[in-house]
Amino acid sequence: MTRINIAIDGPAGAGKSTVAKAVAKDMNIIYLDTGAMYRAVALKAIQSGFDTRDQVVLEALVKDIDIRIEHDGNEQRIFLDGKDVSGDIRTAEVSIGASNVAVNPAVRIKLVELQRKIAKDNDVVMDGRDIGTYVLPDARHKFFLTASIEERAKRRYYEMIGKGMSDITISQIEKDISYRDKNDSSRAFAPLSKASDAIEIDTTSLSEQEVVDCVLSHITNKNE
Ligand code: CDP
Repeated sequence: MTRINIAIDGPAGAGKSTVAKAVAKDMNIIYLDTGAMYRAVALKAIQSGFDTRDQVVLEALVKDIDIRIEHDGNEQRIFLDGKDVSGDIRTAEVSIGASNVAVNPAVRIKLVELQRKIAKDNDVVMDGRDIGTYVLPDARHKFFLTASIEERAKRRYYEMIGKGMSDITISQIEKDISYRDKNDSSRAFAPLSKASDAIEIDTTSLSEQEVVDCVLSHITNKNE
């Protein structure tokens, strides 16, 4: 049986998760947020008092880490060592930490193994940085979403305000996103980059629904 695998990559705030969730719902398949896994590794490092850039510590930390994903309808929950950390991984500190731990090859290899297993066992829309280039290079449908840094920072600001986080500013978020863009694009192992066969969509001036419609129409056209 051929699995449906849809890859959606791009930088922070480009709209990947909103679009991936809507596409998964429309197609009645699961949505896998791979960034949550890197965030869970970062959370564990931070909670253990480690520097998220310490390569030696990270290698030891991922050896026996227990990351589990559950799907409740369209919602993904992530468990770290048995505890639901779906909310705890959304802080600014964990975002930066995730980008740091994502540089480490041992971390990536461990998480990619889990991601590929989920894609083998399920029809899935997966979002991340390296899905089209590295995790699922044979995915039939690949998208790369972008948007201006100002727009991405603004979206993330309102998202975090909506979640009740108040001690944040757009300019700090923009700085954090720039740091991650650079870190994610320049790492040696599976960096953030567009797959040569991915469809690029600049979402800066598009509504969520317009992006969803665009992605779904590409999928339908290719399947016809
Ligand atoms: O939601 P947002 O775009 O802010 O970030 P995320 O998707 O939760 O990813 C957090 C961090 O994990 C990114 O900045 C990347 O460094 C890393 N990541 C990655 O390296 N590869 C992936 N497939 C997904 C995330």
